[in-house]
Amino acid sequence: MANMIKAWLECTRCNKQYDLEKVRYSCDCGGTLDMRRDLSAVDGQKMKQLWEDRWGTKRGLYASGVWRYKELIFDCEDDCVVSRQEGNTRLYDAGKAGEYAGLKNFYLKHEGENPTGSFKDRGMTCGLTAAKFYHANSVACASTGNTSASMSSYAAIAGLRSVIFIPEGKIAYGKLAQALAFGGKTLQIKGNFDDAMELVQEVCDELNIYLVNSINPFRIEGQKAIGFEVLQQLDWEVPDWFVIPGGNLGNNTALSKGMQELYELGIINKIPKIAVIQAAGSAPLSKMWKDGSDFTAVKDPDTIATAIKIGNPVSWEKSLRGIKWSGGIVEDVTEQEIMDAKAMVDLAGIGAEPASCCSVAGAKKLVDMGIIKPEETVVGILTGNILKDPDAVIGYHKDELGSMGIKGNYANAPLIIEASVDAVKKALL
Ligand code: F0G
Repeated sequence: MANMIKAWLECTRCNKQYDLEKVRYSCDCGGTLDMRRDLSAVDGQKMKQLWEDRWGTKRGLYASGVWRYKELIFDCEDDCVVSRQEGNTRLYDAGKAGEYAGLKNFYLKHEGENPTGSFKDRGMTCGLTAAKFYHANSVACASTGNTSASMSSYAAIAGLRSVIFIPEGKIAYGKLAQALAFGGKTLQIKGNFDDAMELVQEVCDELNIYLVNSINPFRIEGQKAIGFEVLQQLDWEVPDWFVIPGGNLGNNTALSKGMQELYELGIINKIPKIAVIQAAGSAPLSKMWKDGSDFTAVKDPDTIATAIKIGNPVSWEKSLRGIKWSGGIVEDVTEQEIMDAKAMVDLAGIGAEPASCCSVAGAKKLVDMGIIKPEETVVGILTGNILKDPDAVIGYHKDELGSMGIKGNYANAPLIIEASVDAVKKALL
């Protein structure tokens, strides 16, 4: 597009507007902020064609599966952009996982195929670009692991210092390893993710560090590209459902916001329903949805899906707004359901970390409940790579998760045998 589209920040509670000149994460009234833009003069069909023309670009900005959609992400000067050519992830036929869920047309969008192994890279390319736009020297986040892995990588590329707040002893090893390896200053907080989230906001205010958690509206803009790319991969045929895990609730907020914008531009003619799936032990939004109650944080969230072990999600209001726009639903799944669904995603040859598999566990549950119909087209978002949390995989397959109430229903335990042909024959029989 020749002309940049005017954008501003707007409070989701009181609609107060702020220009982009100054760093802001929330409104004076305490509400969270949206990036808004004036789409009235934009020709949706031309924009769609532009994105089609960029598909398959080999190098440079538009080789990224986020910046391909730059006009609806962050229309800044190109030299601000901090990118690792993120996105461009595969959309798989769910195979065995589809049979398991009882669905005929089930796709899995594998965001674990991003540069640091999770969907966070889509938001982080935008978060670090904003950090450069605001001339920040340091960035920080609270994290259950993936955000910190992503932030430290993108900060390294941008040449910024990164500071990480993680709950002590509660994040998967693969993620901690990445954060340390990419050079993030890693602070393990004596407390859970929600404590870390509260602390990082205070610290960023006081020490003038740029905060790149998903409360940051730029992060949400980048993550919208997951939905854009799925639609482009489906030749703009709108699926009936998206099924997506919910933790801090930024990702589903991004998905619904992106769909709303495509609809406003006439690029799609209906908004797919969005089902947000939480782990039963960390399910404040699901509780609120089912009970019709006010939002109440879960005090001691717990789940094997450590990525979404979050009791007080920062984006619950925006998340709820998007689920309502889409006519969607919130559901929760048990530890056993998560790990059995994971076994199926893994056995399908695709593989993902536990939190991701809420998508498949949730799809199965909603099919069983008659809410999703077997012939409907469903896209499940797999948010993180299988290698992020090997402990959970080995624990399940060795059937060693009993203390967490999880049985290895589809376990494939390794056998220890003598080094002889006879022993091999016996094992294979
Ligand atoms: N799946 C994975 C693998 C995640 O890492 C997260 C969030 C989610 C799902 C939930 O997404 O928070 O947008 O609802 N991980 C954050 C982190 C909290 O710090 O890495 P959400």
